[in-house]
Amino acid sequence: MTETTRRCTHARTYLMCPPEHFAVQYAINPWMNPDRAVDNALAMRQWRHLRDTYQSLGHTVRTITPEAGLPDMVFAANGATVIDGKVLGANFKFPQRQPEADAYLNWFREHGYGQVRESHVLNEGEGDIVFAGRAILAGYGFRSDQAVRDELTELFGFPVISLRLVDPRFYHLDTALVVLDETTIAYYPAAFDDASRAALASHFSQIIEAKDEDAEVLGLNGISDGRNVVLPVQATGLAAQLAEAGFSPVGVDMSELLKAGGGPKCCTLELR
Ligand code: ARG
Repeated sequence: MTETTRRCTHARTYLMCPPEHFAVQYAINPWMNPDRAVDNALAMRQWRHLRDTYQSLGHTVRTITPEAGLPDMVFAANGATVIDGKVLGANFKFPQRQPEADAYLNWFREHGYGQVRESHVLNEGEGDIVFAGRAILAGYGFRSDQAVRDELTELFGFPVISLRLVDPRFYHLDTALVVLDETTIAYYPAAFDDASRAALASHFSQIIEAKDEDAEVLGLNGISDGRNVVLPVQATGLAAQLAEAGFSPVGVDMSELLKAGGGPKCCTLELR
C-alpha cells in the first residue's frame, strides 16, 4: 500500500434484524429454492458473527424485532433508505415482503426519526438505493422503479444516478456494486447496461471490476466503512483486488442467507 492509497474509516451505525423467522418458503429471485433445506441455527450464528464483526470494527449495531411470517425481514437493507437522519420507506414489489415496509417505518417512528416518509413508488430500500457521499445510486429493472428518483431528489436533495440492472441473478443494486468510498466502487459490469456503466465511469475515479466467480458468490454484497470492507469470505479474488487498492477486506460466511439470495450487505441498513 502506498501513501496515496491510505484509506480512512469513520464509525457507522447499522440496523440489523436477527434471522429468527428466516426461511426460504417462496422464490422471488433465482437464488431461492424452497425445496432446499435451510439450517436456521447456522443462519443465526452467521448473522451474530456479522454483528460482532461490525462491533469489533468500532461500529454500532441496533436491532429491530423480527416478525413471524416475514422470513426475508432479516434483509434489513431493504427496509428503508436513511440519509442525514431522513427516512424514505420501502415499497416492496412482491406481496410476501410488503408488510416489512410498515415494520421498518414503525421502527423509525418509534426511535425518534422526525422525517419519515412513505414511498409511493416501488423501491426496495438500500438494496437498490446506494448512497455514495455526493450522489445517490438508484438501481432499477427488477425490484425498484426508476421513478423513485423523484422522491429521492425531493427528500434527500442529492443528485441521483439511475442504473439499469439487466441480469436477474443480480436483482438488487447491492448484489452487483459496492461503494467503497465517495470516489471508489467495485462492481460487476455485466450486471448493468452500457449507459449505466458509462454513468458509473464518469462519476467514480476508481473502479474495481469484479470477476464472474466473485460476483457469483455475491462477493459485491459488501459494506465499506472507507477502509474495512466486510464481504462474503468466498469472494477471495475480490478480497485480493480490494487489498491491492489499499482496503482491508474482512471475510464473513453467510452461506445460509445466500440460499435466499442475500449476503452481509443485505442484512445491514446503514443509519446515516
Ligand atoms: N430473498 C430476498 C429477496 O429476494 C433477498 C433480499 C436481499 N437483499 C438485498 N439487499 N439484496 O427479496
